[in-house]
Amino acid sequence: MTNIKALKGHIIYTKVKDTFEVHENSYIVIDNKKVVGIFKELPDIYKDISIIDYGHNAIIIPSFIDLHIHAPQYLQMGIGLDLELIEWLQQYTYRNESLFSDVDYAKKIYPTFVDNLYNEGTLRSCIFATIHNESNKILLDELKKKKLSAYVGKVNMNQNAPNDLLQSAECSYEETKSFIDYFTEDLIKPIITPRFAPCCTSELLAKLGKLSMKQELPVQTHLAENKKEVEWVKSLFPDSKNYSDVYKKYNLYGNQKTLLAHSIYLSDEEVAMASNNDNVYLVHCPDSNGNLTSGIMPVTNYLDKGIKVGLGSDIGAGHKMSMPSTITSAVQYSKLRHVFRNEERVLSLSEAFYLATNVNGSFFGKVGSFEKDNFFDALVIRDPDPLVNYLKPIEKLQRFLYNASSNSIVERYLEGEII
Ligand code: GUN
Ligand code: FE
Repeated sequence: MTNIKALKGHIIYTKVKDTFEVHENSYIVIDNKKVVGIFKELPDIYKDISIIDYGHNAIIIPSFIDLHIHAPQYLQMGIGLDLELIEWLQQYTYRNESLFSDVDYAKKIYPTFVDNLYNEGTLRSCIFATIHNESNKILLDELKKKKLSAYVGKVNMNQNAPNDLLQSAECSYEETKSFIDYFTEDLIKPIITPRFAPCCTSELLAKLGKLSMKQELPVQTHLAENKKEVEWVKSLFPDSKNYSDVYKKYNLYGNQKTLLAHSIYLSDEEVAMASNNDNVYLVHCPDSNGNLTSGIMPVTNYLDKGIKVGLGSDIGAGHKMSMPSTITSAVQYSKLRHVFRNEERVLSLSEAFYLATNVNGSFFGKVGSFEKDNFFDALVIRDPDPLVNYLKPIEKLQRFLYNASSNSIVERYLEGEII
């Protein structure tokens, strides 16, 4: 029984999307990396294990996962957000990402980016890096130092961006392969990352699709974020039925696990495609979509059709590197959609929490919930304001999510260990 321990506090998680499971003053038993069970009284067989009692004022929740974030855009959060997507990319984002050709710049930015993931309780994430492998390696090294889990993609682009961010299809593909060889451990894994269809020729998409299939690697990209972007894709790929079909044609859609950020403007046919494919995650990034005047994902329609919807901060089009903030924005934007389209129901807080933990976690495996045999990834939350002690456990969680103050996170567990 050497590596068995119990944590005590108010344990809250979502087994299903519609309700929070609340276990007041209970024990969660962890054997090595995994959850054994939750108990009101500790069974006799566990009487001798070590117990960490976080007290009556602490809640213990699954840690957060961000399914869509751009590490190089860390310093760009909040800047240039009066623009829409294409102009924002051209005037701010590409210029900013070009700076990562200088490894010393990456050495300044990436440690702080990773520190912030840690501070915000985002212990796993799916990250777009840049085209520059030497800088990308710095990002991997920093994640490893902080013991965080992530999928990290070398960005691929060979058209429709400034020259210093473009590589030939062959070079981009070779660099993707060599970056994959740099990954050595279980917690940090590679992901195939075509930036989005407008920046990739058919030749490049085809090479990346083949690589994903051959090495069984997941895929992340952007889909149908902005109306002008959707029109642009139509003109660039006239032979494809729709935007999703561009990725599908080149084996970049749902053959392996696939993250499709935004997915706001999908045709009925594309919605059916997503709902029929268990590997497909449509990643909702509400703050980004509000900031760039992109639109609002019809998130409850997608959920009610059985589509997997994940959540992402989309830093730096998103302005806060905080999943609690992303969760509550998803709820707020859904309420606004409901006001204007009464037939669309509102996303509940438990559903949004479920997306950020259970659904996002499923991309990583048995992660994001406290059921038996899941990896124990958790945050211990204790508000420094003693007034909060008066609140019921579920109210403590609600307040934490809406205040989004990382000061309240007092402990972080990844796979059973404090990090
Ligand atoms: N589409 C292509 N690249 C990007 C990006 O960096 N951010 C967002 N929000 N959308 C994109
Ligand atoms: Fe993005």
